[in-house]
Amino acid sequence: MRILLLTHAFNSLSQRLWAELGRRGHEVSIEFDIADSVAEEAVALFKPDLIVAPYLRRAIPESIWSKHVCLIVHPGIVGDRGPSALDHAIQQGVAVWGVTVLQAEAEMDAGPVWASANFPMRTATKASLYRNEVTEAATRAVLEAVTRVESGFQPQRPEISAWQPLMTQAQRRIDWQKDDTATVLRKINAADGFPGVEDELFGEPCKFFDAWPEATLRGEAGAIIALRETALLRATADGAVWIGHVKRKDGIKLPATLAFPDIAVPPAPTFDYWKSAHATWQDIFYEEADAVGFLHFEFYNGAMATSQCERLREALRWAKTRPTKVLVLMGGQDFWSNGIHLNVIESASLGDGSPADESWRNINAMNDLALELIETPDQVTIAAVGGNAGAGGCYLARAADLVWLRDGAILNPHYKNMGNLYGSEYWTYSLPRRVGEEEARMIMLDRLPLDARRAVAVKFADAMLAGERAAFRIDVARRAAELAADVAPFLTEKRGTRARDEAAKPLAAYREEELGHMRRNFYGFDPSYHVARFHFVSKSPASWTPRHLARHRDLGWKIPE
Ligand code: COA
Repeated sequence: MRILLLTHAFNSLSQRLWAELGRRGHEVSIEFDIADSVAEEAVALFKPDLIVAPYLRRAIPESIWSKHVCLIVHPGIVGDRGPSALDHAIQQGVAVWGVTVLQAEAEMDAGPVWASANFPMRTATKASLYRNEVTEAATRAVLEAVTRVESGFQPQRPEISAWQPLMTQAQRRIDWQKDDTATVLRKINAADGFPGVEDELFGEPCKFFDAWPEATLRGEAGAIIALRETALLRATADGAVWIGHVKRKDGIKLPATLAFPDIAVPPAPTFDYWKSAHATWQDIFYEEADAVGFLHFEFYNGAMATSQCERLREALRWAKTRPTKVLVLMGGQDFWSNGIHLNVIESASLGDGSPADESWRNINAMNDLALELIETPDQVTIAAVGGNAGAGGCYLARAADLVWLRDGAILNPHYKNMGNLYGSEYWTYSLPRRVGEEEARMIMLDRLPLDARRAVAVKFADAMLAGERAAFRIDVARRAAELAADVAPFLTEKRGTRARDEAAKPLAAYREEELGHMRRNFYGFDPSYHVARFHFVSKSPASWTPRHLARHRDLGWKIPE
């Protein structure tokens, strides 16, 4: 079928559906939902057999749904209605939630149901549930709905519940004197990554994101009692929670201590907290089993600022001294890595710093980290990519000896979407030698996502493992332990290859060439990267669909006979 994805953005769910539908032989094109007239034009050009709307913020106009079957992906169980479906489910602490694929009609979220899929709820942020459980359930339900459309299925009208309006900030408000830790976490989780919970810090209005429980430290309810690295600890009625990210009024979302750089808060007691897992704020932690080390890095949104790269490098150097044979870099729950931290870079303009200088520091810190990984002679290194990865994050993964992907993970191994950025992280070394010159050129130019199957097919990745998160981790641990049982041949070959590669062209030369381009991106006459970064962090609405996504807008595009 010809399927038009009508979506507010090409987000993780839309990318997954684009890949899954394309792989099943459907012709898929994308239009951003910008205005009714633009959507109507896309429909007129593409003449779709079916329209799928994975992520909309407005209703589809009657001019479209009255003439075409439009399938809406609603992140709620059958019968649920309204724009804050997941937010309510999290705040109410429901045990099971789901995704419904229903047909667009005049009454919102009330049309016939084509398919649905449920999942057990997990204690996690809304964004994390969306990127994991919702994405998996939505993929299953959309694929089933598409098959049903092809087979002439007659969808049924569900019993519908009352419309649940947009959740207000009044419903999200935290009462720091009365709310216990579980309630505070639930409220912040239900509002993460958008819109956040409105509150105050140091007398300033702001929004909270990225909350973590604290097991031991305590204080007077509502007081800010400590800081650690980028997070602030605030006491609740019965304990304390770490606030990882904050958005000040009219500002952008930033690590909490960076949003309030001049505050006087005592640091939390220091210990090498990342050397094992604790019930506290801990963005890096390490575990070990069967001669395998597992290094986890839970960086919010997968963004890696200079200081995070430096701390992760320190942790990696330490992990390399452990008596292990295999070292697995696990990334975080939602993202493995999305490269340099564009929000932190943008915020450099708020103080005396310059975003160009911070970009330079950040890319060098990423490169130092990638180099530390490439130069690991005594262990086999594995990037176990369970969450998605983008831009430099993909090449940090590729700096490992092996890249294992979760079935369902999506990679965006290109940089040009960010204002024509050239990219570094030794990609000019790692990419062509894996996929070949021509494929490397296509990956960089096409700027399209790679799903796990395709990433393995083009040899960007080495293996695709189980799709379910827990099964993926078990699979990773089992395979890593098997590898650890006999690493000698692998390590001998790896050292030989590295020595030959270094003799042919040193890594320092790759780095220098890449950074020559990046210097021009950051400091040159063309401001494209700075403009793109500004729009990315400010979440400027799209005003057109990029041509590489809207195939129906290609000059030579014709409806196939
Ligand atoms: N720096 C800062 N924030 C980042 C980021 C980065 N490098 N990459 C992603 N994010 C943030 C987004 O702003 C968004 O924030 P929110 O929680 O406030 O909404 C969140 O991560 C999720 O990103 P989103 O774009 O919604 O996720 P996605 O899965 O739909 O798309 C990418 C993933 C990788 C395609 C997309 O995030 C992207 O293009 N990121 C930029 C990558 C990049 O250019 N890095 C710099 C060069 S190395």
